[in-house]
Amino acid sequence: MELEPLLRPFRLRGLELPNRVVMAPMSRYACPGGVPGPDVAAYYARRATHGVGLIVTEGVAIDHPLAVDHPNAPRLFGADALTGWSGVIDAVRRAGGRIWPQLWHQGPMWNVESAQPGMFAPSLRPSGIWGPGDGTISIPLAGREAALPATGPASDSDIQDVIDAYGKAAATARRLGFDGVAIHGAHGYLIDSFLWSFTNQRDDRWGGDAERRAAFGAAVVRAVRAAVGPDLPICLRLSQFKMQDYRAVLADNPDDLGRLLRPLADAGVDLFDGSQRYFDTPIFAGSPLNLAGWMRRLTGLPAMAVGGVGLDKARGPARHIDDSQGAANNLPLLLDRMRAGEFDLIAVGRSLLNDPRWFERARHGEPFLPFDPANLQRLI
Ligand SMILES: Cc1cc2nc3c(=O)[nH]c(=O)nc-3n(C[C@H](O)[C@H](O)[C@H](O)COP(=O)(O)O)c2cc1C
Repeated sequence: MELEPLLRPFRLRGLELPNRVVMAPMSRYACPGGVPGPDVAAYYARRATHGVGLIVTEGVAIDHPLAVDHPNAPRLFGADALTGWSGVIDAVRRAGGRIWPQLWHQGPMWNVESAQPGMFAPSLRPSGIWGPGDGTISIPLAGREAALPATGPASDSDIQDVIDAYGKAAATARRLGFDGVAIHGAHGYLIDSFLWSFTNQRDDRWGGDAERRAAFGAAVVRAVRAAVGPDLPICLRLSQFKMQDYRAVLADNPDDLGRLLRPLADAGVDLFDGSQRYFDTPIFAGSPLNLAGWMRRLTGLPAMAVGGVGLDKARGPARHIDDSQGAANNLPLLLDRMRAGEFDLIAVGRSLLNDPRWFERARHGEPFLPFDPANLQRLI
């Protein structure tokens, strides 16, 4: 198979990627107390050893009390966590790789998926709205029931605190030696909840039309840019779907999407990451383009696609893991789309979680390993 579209180098600001394959961000909850240990460093380094062009870490908590609920999710603050991240960066660099942290604030989804005893403070929400009560979800129904009652909206000072926390995390990322910064703006978490008209019903500078719903994300991007300077690339992940409802959409048509993307692009995004379950699913009728393809077309900026590379098609919209059986080879389809210039980079999630050598197997034409769900529970 001619893998050339995957093997071409790619430049983003001061960073040269040797190829187009990126490890997708995947929360592994293997950082007790928020501290990544040697096992986490070795897990990421294995992907670098085996040729992945870039690693985007699992979501990492910014320094805000309502950012991330799970005690084993990594943090980007506190001396022990930062020492842990230095170890991760060193290990990845020694293996010849590049790594970006994914900055994460869960917003309305805080304390819903992995509620911890004693954590009953209301989550941070643009308008106090969690989401629809009848969406298609894979989180426990009890989690939704607990989260549904409206809370107070985020105040201006709450919003400024979070923007500052993103900026601080980005400054930390730069100081530690990360090669860029990824921002989680997808899946119904904080930034997405400002973009999404269902959860953002404010009528101040942070809500209203598409441009004002993008103002919070744009402010975060500007804070990150101010912290990382001109050389480090900034990637922003967005999605149509939300954890609050897999069928919800951010934008109904290309014009609406363009209105949301423009302020974000102007704020300093270098790479848009269009999160989808399958990279070959069109997002609007009348065009085969996926989300990344539309991001690229509407902004002129580079874009990264994701979803289902090496995996079989899902059988239902809310299945997260059960669709990973088999060792589908959809590389020819992926290569066609990249050859056509629809998007620039491809992120690979579960196939790389399952097998650190996945990309090497693709390069050498070796058979792929079947997906083993047990690998979701361990760092191989
Ligand atoms: C175990 C697991 C954890 C994930 N955690 C994150 C995360 O922390 N941040 C994020 O943006 N996406 C997360 N995702 C979504 C992946 O980045 C990716 O978009 C999704 O798995 C689809 O790609 P794939 O089909 O190649 O796995 C996660 C996915 C899985 C399977």
